[in-house]
Amino acid sequence: MDTDVTLCKVEDVPDGGMKHFEIMGYDILVVRLADRFFCVDAACTYKWAMLQDGRVDPDNLLVICKDCNGSWDLETGQPRDAPAKFPLTSYRAEAVGDDLIVTFTY
Ligand code: FES
Repeated sequence: MDTDVTLCKVEDVPDGGMKHFEIMGYDILVVRLADRFFCVDAACTYKWAMLQDGRVDPDNLLVICKDCNGSWDLETGQPRDAPAKFPLTSYRAEAVGDDLIVTFTY
């Protein structure tokens, strides 16, 4: 079952930046690259560092852990560079008017 949640206003996430949200028991990270939004779990799957403290590689669509440089694909949540090993859950995120909508699947 899919549930659409209005997370915030589009303008709340700066272009090229990321923002952490806690919602419905989920820790999620939203990344904005121009008009594209990506949403993945916020905690790394290696040592649970919070990925909002890391950085984004906009050319390769990666989020990179600040502690160990592990990286994940922003579109799929799949690990790209070690020590990242397990995937992050990825969620659909899209702008609808001024609102940023994230879809949770149960
Ligand atoms: S500590 Fe988790 S990937 Fe770096």
